[in-house]
Amino acid sequence: MRVAALGDLHCREQSTGAFEPLFARICADSDVLLLCGDLTDRGTEAEARVLAREIALGCRVPVIAVLGNHDHEADAGDGVRRALVEAGVRVLDGEACEVGGVGFAGTKGFAGGFGNRVLEPWGEDSLKCMVRETMGEALKLEGALAKLHAVERRVAVLHYAPIRETVEGEPLEIYPFLGCSRLAPPLDAFRVAACFHGHAHYGTPKGKTGQGTAVYNCAYPLLLRTSPERPWHVVEV
Ligand SMILES: [Fe+2]
Ligand SMILES: [Fe+2]
Repeated sequence: MRVAALGDLHCREQSTGAFEPLFARICADSDVLLLCGDLTDRGTEAEARVLAREIALGCRVPVIAVLGNHDHEADAGDGVRRALVEAGVRVLDGEACEVGGVGFAGTKGFAGGFGNRVLEPWGEDSLKCMVRETMGEALKLEGALAKLHAVERRVAVLHYAPIRETVEGEPLEIYPFLGCSRLAPPLDAFRVAACFHGHAHYGTPKGKTGQGTAVYNCAYPLLLRTSPERPWHVVEV
């Protein structure tokens, strides 16, 4: 199966017509399309409806998505999700689905930093809350992957990065806000064939976890710079 992945489209109300040709090109070359969050720019349902129409017109393959931080900006994540679901998109939030014998597990993920500098739940309650949120997202990812135990090939979809390598290129000061290595152990434990994320617009297109699991940064602004002739990832799974 040819899995295409792209994130951070940041669709606006004025974006009508901007994505349909892109989706048509992607679908000509793939069997499934993953959208890795920041689908909208301000997180409004109106923006999501514009994107939903582009997807309905341009996509001829199943579309699977997770939401990003921008999709929550207007506190209308449910509306964003509803607009996409009505266009046939499978929006995963700690859930899993199967397409053509391949299992897809998705969740947004969250921030917290990487490696031995990862944010710890210590001190103020607000900081502990932040770490709890990330741990919760890691558990959602693990739970979704566990539901796919009988599936031979598994793919993970995130918005935030699970490894440091694919955020490299961003300012060092914001690494902790771009992802968290607490998201990586489930990827290795369930031996996913590939993990796709977005969010780091100035990161690095490809990396791997300490145990060798392939990780792809699918942020559209990044891929427009690094591979302008084909600004999306396609991975054979
Ligand atoms: Fe983004
Ligand atoms: Fe983001």
